Order: sequence, then C-alpha cells, then structure tokens
Amino acid sequence: MDHIEAKERIAVLSDEIRRHNHSYYVLSTPSISDFEFDMLLEELIRLEKEHPDLAEPDSPTQHVGGGITREFRQVQHKYPMLSLGNTYSEEDIRDFEERIHKTIGDEVEYVCELKFDGVAIGLTYRDGRLVQAVTRGDGIRGDDVTTNVKTIRSIPLKLHGSGFPDEFEIRGELILPHASFEKMNGQRLEDGDEPFANPRNAASGSLKMLDSAEVAKRNLDGFFYYLPGDNLPFKTHYECLLAAKSWGFKISEFAVRCKTSEEIFDYINTWDVARHDLSFDIDGVVIKVNDLRQQEMLGYTAKSPRWAISYKFRAEQVSTELLSVAFQVGRTGAITPVANLQPVQLAGTVVKRATLHNADVLASLDVRIGDTVFVEKGGEIIPKIIGVDFTRRSAESVPLSFINTCPECGAALVRTAGESAWYCPNENGCPPQIKGKLEHFISRRAMNIDSLGEGKIEILFDNGLVHNCADLYDLTYDRLIGLEKTYESTVDKKEKKISFREKTVTNILNGIESSKNVSFDRVLYALGIRFVGETVAKKLAAHFLSIEKLAQADLNELIEVEEIGEKIARSILAWFPDPRNIELLGRLSAGGIQFSMDESLLARDSDKFSGLIFVVSGVFENFSRDELKKTIEAHGGKNAGSISSKTSYVLAGENMGPEKRKKAEKLGIPIISEADFLEMVSQH
Ligand code: IVH
Repeated sequence: MDHIEAKERIAVLSDEIRRHNHSYYVLSTPSISDFEFDMLLEELIRLEKEHPDLAEPDSPTQHVGGGITREFRQVQHKYPMLSLGNTYSEEDIRDFEERIHKTIGDEVEYVCELKFDGVAIGLTYRDGRLVQAVTRGDGIRGDDVTTNVKTIRSIPLKLHGSGFPDEFEIRGELILPHASFEKMNGQRLEDGDEPFANPRNAASGSLKMLDSAEVAKRNLDGFFYYLPGDNLPFKTHYECLLAAKSWGFKISEFAVRCKTSEEIFDYINTWDVARHDLSFDIDGVVIKVNDLRQQEMLGYTAKSPRWAISYKFRAEQVSTELLSVAFQVGRTGAITPVANLQPVQLAGTVVKRATLHNADVLASLDVRIGDTVFVEKGGEIIPKIIGVDFTRRSAESVPLSFINTCPECGAALVRTAGESAWYCPNENGCPPQIKGKLEHFISRRAMNIDSLGEGKIEILFDNGLVHNCADLYDLTYDRLIGLEKTYESTVDKKEKKISFREKTVTNILNGIESSKNVSFDRVLYALGIRFVGETVAKKLAAHFLSIEKLAQADLNELIEVEEIGEKIARSILAWFPDPRNIELLGRLSAGGIQFSMDESLLARDSDKFSGLIFVVSGVFENFSRDELKKTIEAHGGKNAGSISSKTSYVLAGENMGPEKRKKAEKLGIPIISEADFLEMVSQH
C-alpha cells in the first residue's frame, strides 16, 4: 500500500473505530462484535507502525496506551477547580433555594445530577481534539495526565458533530466501575500487591501510573458534567450537557430539570436507594441552577459556586466487635485513640479500624473492649465509632482508661485547659512527630520536595539519616544509594523490600537542591511553627522580610501584623529562642535556604504563576517582551532564556524560531499565544 492509500485507509479506519468506540463505551450499544472491532484496530495499529508520520495524536490507537509519562507536570488551571458546598439535610437545601431566590427573584429552574465519587478531571479541546487532561490538584494547579487519560475509551480524542468552541474545557469525574474495581483488586491480591480501599482510590492510583499501557488495562471510565467559562454559546447548563453529549462525551442519563423543592427531594430520595443498583459509586446528588445568566449573577465564594450545592447521602452504618484500642501519635503530638475492629464490610470496603477521636469522645461513648459498636463511614475515608450497643454489653466488661504516657517515646502526656486532645510534649524526640514535621517540610505547599514523598522520609529516618529538616541538606549520593526497607505486606504477610536505586537518589537530591529556590514565605510555613499556617507565613514574610527581623520582633510588633493575634505571636516568641531552633536555622541558612525576600516581590499582583517557568520568545502584538516578562514576575512566575523540561509554558509571538518550537513540542511543553497569556492573567 503506498503512502496515499495508507493515508486514506487510516482516515477511514480511524473514523470507523471512533464510531464503534462511541457506540460501545458511551452509548453502551455495541455496533459490531469484539472480534471485528479488534481486527479493525489491529489493522490501524499496523498501518501506523508502517507509516509513523501518518499517526495522528488523536488516533483511536492512543486508547491502547504505550506512552510513558516520566513526570506529571503541574499545570495551572485556566479556571480554578472549585468544590461544592455540602449539605446533608432538607433544611440545608431549602436554605440554598432561599439564598438563590433572594438574588434572582424570579422562578428558578434547577438541574439535579448524580454526584460521582471519583477523580475530578478537566479536559481541554482545541479544534475538536483533546490536547490536555489535568487533575484537580490543589484547585489552582493540577497534574497533567493527558497521556493516561487518552487511554480511556469513552473519552473522545476527536469530537463528533459540530458547534463546539475552538477551544474549551470540559470537567467531569473519572470513575472505576465496580466490576473493573473487583477485577483489579483480585489481580493485585494475586500479585501480592496491596488492594485499593475503594474505587475512587483505585481510579486515582491508576491515573498516576507512569506506563499508559497499564492504565489502558484498568478500564477507567468518566462522566462529564460541567463546561466552565463565560463565553459559551448556550443559555442553560442543561443545553451544555446536551451539546457535550452530541460532541461524543459521556453524560449521565440521570440529569433532570426540576422546579420545586419537592421535585429535588424526590430526586434525592430516589437515588439514596437506587444508588445501590448502579454499577459505579456515587456519594450524593448535585443541584445546579440551570440558567447560565442566573449562575453568573449568583457568582462564587472563594471555594465554591453559589449556584450549585451537593447533597451528600447519609453515611452507612454497621455494627461489629471492638477488639482493642491503640493510641496513635500525630505530627503535632496529638494522641488519637484508634479502635481495632472485627473486620466488617461497610459501604463497599472492609473496615478493620475506626477513629475514636480523643479522650473526651472515648469517655463519652463509654466504649469497652468486647463491646458491639456502631461504625459509620462518613464522606471521608476514615470510619468512626458512633455508639455502643449497650444491650449486648458483657457484665464483665471494664471501662477503658486513656494512657498517661506516649506510646512511642514514653514522655508524660500533657493537656492544655480547654483542648480535647492530649499531647506528647517531646516534639524533637518522638519519632512520629519528627517524621510528621519532615513530611510537612517537604510537602507540596511548603518546600515541594515531592521526590521524598511516599514513605521515603520514613526510610531516611529509620536509617538514622534525618532527624530534622536541616539534615536533608547534608544528604549525599553515597549515604542514600542502596538504602533499604523491608516491610510485611498486610495482604500476604510476606516480607517485601524497597531499595533506593540511582534514579531515586538523583531525584531526591535534585528535589532537595531545587527547594533552595523556594521563597521565604513558604520556607517559614515549612518550618512548622505552631499556628503559622500558609496565610500567616505570607503575612509575616511580607511584613518582616527576613527571618532575623522576625526573630527579633516582640509581642507588640508581632500583633501589629494583620491577622496575627496573641496566640500566634506567643507561639512565634516561644519558637525562636529555643537553642535547637537556633541551630536548625543556622544550618538551613548555611545550606542555602531563602530566609529573606526582596521587597520588590511584594509588588506582586498575585501568586498565580508561582512555581511556573516561562520562556518568552518572538515578537508580540500588544506588548514588548520585557513587559510580558515583568507581568510574569509580577504574578510570581519566573522567566528562563531557553526551553528545558522544567519550562511550564512557552509564550510564543511572531517569528519564534522553528528550533524552539520543535524543542517545546518534543518536550510536550504547551506553547501559548499572547492572547492565551492575557487570558491566564485575567483569570482569578
Ligand atoms: S459540578 C464549579 N457536578 O464533586 C462546580 N461536580 O464536591 C463544578 N462531582 O469538584 C462541579 N459529580 O469533582 C459537579 N454532577 C457533578 C459532580 C461533581 C461529582 C465532584 C466534582 C466536584 C466535587 C465537589
């Protein structure tokens, strides 16, 4: 077959496979047999192999996977990924309606939808082709998981029909249907891997696999429910859903329009029961104002839209036997009593442990070993004990008492008047507190050393290499290479081993090195001074500009700073004179950490580009290159002269060199126009 014939055949096959995929995975009405489908797909794969230049990035062969993601690049969301206000009662729904009536006045129509319990995803389409898939992340920035998302067969790589904007984003939820979840966990157990706790975790874990061919095997699926942006050619949310459906997206067939509270409650009550018959998990329903103009009038709070709300189903409950109570020590030293239970099935997972919160809760529940207790799984992963079945209590049972000393380090526990938690005061000597502080230090919003995540801190600590954050900066290749940890798998009770190889070690050291560029405000947050959260750290850094000035400040100077009250001020005043902290700061400073900031940084308009690196190249229509670079810096971003794998965006004008473009494309770095950039700047 010559090149021209191959091109034609590839186009025909791609179209046909696309249609069959849509029928099978989106509409659930297969249009040919599996065998016939496989034959078509194999032919396409073969032709693309023979003529690699003809393989399109949106070819249906992409669903098979094969692309490897070396690192999930962080990408800024064009529209922040907000969450929804949660409600649990009819009264809350009535309040929501009332608030809406106050703003809108007229009759309001709502759309009720299922609330899918999966992983939120934003897909960007340009000229009808999927170009980017990004997870929620922290709502401002998420991970680019495009290669993996392309393997999901119900997600169109090329849109059907017409009428879609040249560029738009669609949001939805990636889920793992029950059948695929069971199959996957079965396989994991066979392979000696830890099974996933629930389909949501499994979906999220699958999305983060490096080899997309593996992701393709997981049978992820997705439902789409939202088109963000204010320039859509539609009047209502429902129209958006129908349009998205016509473009090939999988839209839930259970979205309905309602006018009255009664209709909304009917929907809720129906699905509270019917959800058990679905082949995937939902955890509630979502109620949205249908009219897009009304949505705009209602607007947003910092966290969520005022035009939508979610109603979460009541948690499921079961009863089981309390076998024992363990006491866990958290990062702050707070002691949490944890119940070990006779394993029991609850909301799709086996529950073996549940939290008892603190000494007060433990006492007020009056739980005793051997009791039959009621366990509930709320919206979140950790189940809790909500009561005791006293009718089944044995006459021999004895009240439980709380511990007096730390189970990890033996220190006598303390409790501040007015607080419900007991604390281990041995901040610098108690292992979980030390590890917790280190985990906090490396966390994304602090020093962002993600190469040290996933239990690696534990390995370093267990090998005696780190006791505090300054020790991280003394780590060397030789100390790290070959470090090992053995652990017992909770599944097959066999011993497993992880060891640090060259690549892991290099990544760790690179991550530590780049943390030296983290700005002073985040360093201050990373130190983990009690009550100094992110916002407080920002205010303090902006006010004092250096750690020395902050350390010298007295109570009055501290409480002069906006948002700093006496409690925070006293915690800061107690932290700095501690000789251990003085030593720590000295070592961190010698290690090259940023302990001051330039006043010019304060002229920042926002932080929206913080952590992002731009390469500005070419000639622009409205602004000079320098002006654009200044704007980048004014929003916390950085400029670089050449493109590398660290580049977040290439801002391209006229006459950008073809070599640069090629390099950006090769590294998969988004190339944005002046208009795209200005739009990014103007977004919240
Ligand atoms: S609408 C601006 N609709 O629930 C609001 N979200 O708790 C856009 N979710 O972030 C979200 N099903 O990840 C919407 N039918 C649905 C949903 C849904 C599940 C998720 C989504 C959202 C979270 C909020």
